[in-house]
Amino acid sequence: PNPEATPLYDLLDRAAQAYRTWLRRHGDKDRAVEYLRRRGLSGDVAARYGIGFAPPGWDNLLRELGNEKELVRAGLAIRKEETGSVYDRFRDRIMFPIRDRRGRTVGFGGRVLDQGEPKYLNSPETPVFHKGRELYGLHECLQAQRYPDHMLVVEGYMDVVALAQQGLPNAVATLGTATTTDQVERLFRTTRNVVFCFDGDEAGRQAAWRALENTLPAMRDDRQARFLFLPDGEDPDSLVRQLGADGFRAQVGDALSLSQFLLKELSRDADVQTVDGRARLLERAATTVRRVPPGVFRDLLVDEVARYARVDRVHMERAVGGDGTARP
Ligand code: CTP
Ligand code: MN
Ligand code: MN
Ligand code: MN
Ligand code: MN
Repeated sequence: PNPEATPLYDLLDRAAQAYRTWLRRHGDKDRAVEYLRRRGLSGDVAARYGIGFAPPGWDNLLRELGNEKELVRAGLAIRKEETGSVYDRFRDRIMFPIRDRRGRTVGFGGRVLDQGEPKYLNSPETPVFHKGRELYGLHECLQAQRYPDHMLVVEGYMDVVALAQQGLPNAVATLGTATTTDQVERLFRTTRNVVFCFDGDEAGRQAAWRALENTLPAMRDDRQARFLFLPDGEDPDSLVRQLGADGFRAQVGDALSLSQFLLKELSRDADVQTVDGRARLLERAATTVRRVPPGVFRDLLVDEVARYARVDRVHMERAVGGDGTARP
């Protein structure tokens, strides 16, 4: 624990409180409330996730909380290099507090109310906020279910809260970064079944592959990772509002297993009808399978790839290295 970091939790918490209060009582709050309503959020879910509003203006938070130096350290205010003057980082945005597992606010994401850029603004790295480590919504998920049977991993804040709004409170978001091995480990310490559910676009499909790669080292025999691909142009927010909770659950039930997704990707432009194509597939598969720790899961994966490539298991094991189970 870093003693320098301790006071920041209190400050971040007071900032979250201020944003929440402004959503209820600021002179400009109507636009924010209207925006949330348009996106289908109830006051109850907004409260559960601590959603707030940063009003327009350069110094609302500075005046509310004082302490320029600490606000800068917490990522809530920015100091101009040239003049040394300080201003609020988040202005005229819907505010999503990012909480750690224990519920302490460690950072924020802020969304513009209209077409402004950037659409989302996040807290910078601070002594208490590390983007590749946190999972947005994990605390709230654990509040709803102590031991979730499965968890959904989505890209965005709105996906998490929209799913919760429809009665699916077990989603977390990676905050627009690639899913890290660290995040995967955290997920599997919370549940045995993880379902990745990214946007139905090119970025979402790439995010899924990156997630698969970073999930391999965490695979144990009692853990399951699956991948749900959404129709083009949809994200979990838009889809759950269309299908409702049961419809969305049905989709989750149809998600690809890790090995199905793996084989689908590996067999792209590798024609298993030809020796050449089978060799290529094997080579690619080996690189991936090598990242899985030895165990039943890895053995089954080797079996499945071999069957798919229509080669003897021995060939696959040779490609992976060793006997397919032993590791140096
Ligand atoms: N993101 C970000 N900065 C951006 C765009 C996106 O940090 N300029 C992150 C945010 O965490 C966002 C996630 O990536 O929630 C997914 O991006 P996108 O699909 O564009 O956002 P949505 O949540 O679908 O946004 P919305 O529905 O509010 O338009
Ligand atoms: Mn740290
Ligand atoms: Mn997207
Ligand atoms: Mn999206
Ligand atoms: Mn969206």
